Amino acid sequence: MADRLIYDDEFVARLTENAGLKAFSGGVFVPTMGGLHEGHLELVRAAKGLGDPVVVSVFVNPDQFNDQADFEGYPRRFEADAALAESAGADVVWGPSERDIYPDAFEVPTPDLPRVGTEPGLEEAHRPGHFAGVARVVRRLFDLVQPEVAVFGEKDWQQLQLVQAMVDRDGGPRIHAVPTSREADGLARSSRNERLSQAARRKARAVYLALQAAAAANHPSTAEKMMREALESHGLEVEYAVVRSSTGLRPVDDFSRPSRALVAAWLDGVRLIDNLPMPVWT
Ligand code: PAF
Repeated sequence: MADRLIYDDEFVARLTENAGLKAFSGGVFVPTMGGLHEGHLELVRAAKGLGDPVVVSVFVNPDQFNDQADFEGYPRRFEADAALAESAGADVVWGPSERDIYPDAFEVPTPDLPRVGTEPGLEEAHRPGHFAGVARVVRRLFDLVQPEVAVFGEKDWQQLQLVQAMVDRDGGPRIHAVPTSREADGLARSSRNERLSQAARRKARAVYLALQAAAAANHPSTAEKMMREALESHGLEVEYAVVRSSTGLRPVDDFSRPSRALVAAWLDGVRLIDNLPMPVWT
């Protein structure tokens, strides 16, 4: 059985001094907010193939939710999550409390956000404050766990680019990206999918259909139009449906360089995001 870290005041104090988890220094880290599903387990399995120990954190970070109802509705089931993470190969499952991460007496800094987190007009435009919260907790988790490698899913593509840009600028673990895990009909796995009604769940496949349609288009602007049409015709309310450069998420005029179609849309009160690489035309 994996270690489940138990905290007492002394341990919290050591964490605060950025020392408590250094025993795991050099390992592979999978940060999560819990509600583990097959997609997370794929991250843990990928981590297992990269080194050890594999440390999985489960922390629903209040700081990155711009919607209180979303925060309150987020699944919290540490014991079940820990058992799942262990079954996929985690050596340590760490469920810190809010006080462990944000101790009263310790100011946890928010890193300056790299451009990819402030300018593309995507997640940061629709979820104000979200990336500041992500950057803060990710830096804090990296400082506590001190991993050699950290594993992130490609589903949160802009988050992945943000974390990579922070690490490129400030140092930190090597970032290992794992392709998005999908249900049989293509829907990207997400802890929020469980909030969809049965009828909405059937419509949700439109997100992947839209991204596939984009991949068949001959121009980014056509791809964007096709995605919007596919989403709206299935009753989704589109926040964005765009094609951008893969790492900088800048607008693109053609498919001559690596690019990515990215979508955020609401269905049945649930916000769905997804993305797909576009073919490069040489
Ligand atoms: O992707 C997530 O689950 C979260 O944003 C992360 C990276 C665990 C930070 O809370």
